[in-house]
Amino acid sequence: MAAQKTIRRIHVGKKMKAAATRLPGVVEVDHPLVRHHLTRLRDERTSPEEFRSLVRRLATLLAYEALQDLHEEPLSIRTPNCDHVGRRLRESIGLVPILRAGLGMVDPILDLIPAAEVWHLGVYRDERTAKPVEYYSKIPQTEPVDTALILDPMLATGGSAVAALSTLREWGVPNVKLLAIIASREGVTTITDQFPQAQIYVCCIDPTLNDRKFIIPGLGDAGDRTFNTGRSE
Ligand code: PRP
Repeated sequence: MAAQKTIRRIHVGKKMKAAATRLPGVVEVDHPLVRHHLTRLRDERTSPEEFRSLVRRLATLLAYEALQDLHEEPLSIRTPNCDHVGRRLRESIGLVPILRAGLGMVDPILDLIPAAEVWHLGVYRDERTAKPVEYYSKIPQTEPVDTALILDPMLATGGSAVAALSTLREWGVPNVKLLAIIASREGVTTITDQFPQAQIYVCCIDPTLNDRKFIIPGLGDAGDRTFNTGRSE
């Protein structure tokens, strides 16, 4: 049953990496650097400047884990000493940040994949109903990318991610990976039930949502903490 899909804690190491690429589903990256930076990210005393920096670091670690199965092809070059056959990426990659908070994950991943396309999606969660409201889409009608990475630091009810996954399914993207820094268990289950093929990479799956559908323990509102707009709370 999709709802019982295995959630794997993946230690970054060769043996466990191999397991991660064999098993479809949800990957919760289990690494000291992730735990260290995530704890600072959760801390309410962390400034917006540091919060943005921590999101960049965690996005890099997530992407490293999520992109192990990218397709490559041989590339012949000449080093200063001799001919050499190296490798280069063979597939087109699209980054799909969910506005606003997903914006903070774009630059660190573009640093890793400078040729990636970036297609913005505007989705916010109505605080009264906790339902996603789609307000902007830059997704084109033309040929889809081979692999799309949906970027959003938080996956709470999963509604915003489901909206993004639906949009990418309409675009016809064959390979979709969802990168979130934290997720709720409920949100992950909602997504895997509706999109069994989606691959989800998270730094941590938190146990619950509160009555306002905020992740517990969570980190508050990632958009507000990134852009320093939380004073109306
Ligand atoms: C947050 C977060 C996700 C969404 C998660 O965005 O960045 O996009 O909520 O909630 P869900 O899984 O229940 O849909 P928010 O609506 O606060 O918008 P913002 O990024 O513009 O602040």
